[in-house]
Amino acid sequence: MTSTTSTDTLKHRAAVHAVDHFVRSGMVVGLGTGSTAAHAVVEIGARLRDGRLHDIVGIPTSEATARLARESGVPLTTLEARPTVDVTIDGADEVDPVLNLIKGLGGALLREKVVATASRRTVIIVDDSKRVARLGTRAPLPVEVVPFGWSIHLPFFQELEAEPELRRLDDGRAFVTDNGHYIVDCRFPEGLQDPHAIARALDERPGIVEHGLFLNLATDVVIATPHGTEVVHRG
Ligand code: A5P
Repeated sequence: MTSTTSTDTLKHRAAVHAVDHFVRSGMVVGLGTGSTAAHAVVEIGARLRDGRLHDIVGIPTSEATARLARESGVPLTTLEARPTVDVTIDGADEVDPVLNLIKGLGGALLREKVVATASRRTVIIVDDSKRVARLGTRAPLPVEVVPFGWSIHLPFFQELEAEPELRRLDDGRAFVTDNGHYIVDCRFPEGLQDPHAIARALDERPGIVEHGLFLNLATDVVIATPHGTEVVHRG
């Protein structure tokens, strides 16, 4: 078994655990984005088909997830129609010991954060490589900015001790999110010493739409390890 296969197996196990333990018939379910969350969407679709679940409606956090949900037979709705989400299942790029997260390597952080904010419960599913002692040590922090004047933020990010880089496609064009924005990936060589202070600074700056720091949003984290699945609940 290759290491890629084994990581994907762990992602799948985390997704199955979350769907089995947190999704019930009749729920409005937030559908996350990324390779781990995709397993959960497919699992929900399979349970709807074989009758283990019924009357589920999903709120997708990206266009890609909306497509996957349609292919998997998961009916979709909107936050306008169903403003309270019973449970959201989503992945993460990093999880720290107090269940704060970095998300957004998949580019869907804005809708993911809106859906998490509307959710009674936000269940994060990861393989154990995503666990970190300090946020920012494994992944960059994605920051979503409006294209207008995007480069004026670069010195601001540097003042926060980040090394910023505009996210680009393979052909060199800027990556554009589902919301028509750019993403600047901010690498923190020492990690984030104070994620709350960084989040406040980013929240206050015009032109920055959202960032990938999900602080106090995850209620439960399912971590699949080669030795079994652990679930950590917010205290
Ligand atoms: C999408 O924007 C992200 O927040 C994903 O949830 C995150 O990047 C995890 O993705 P994987 O499950 O593919 O690692």
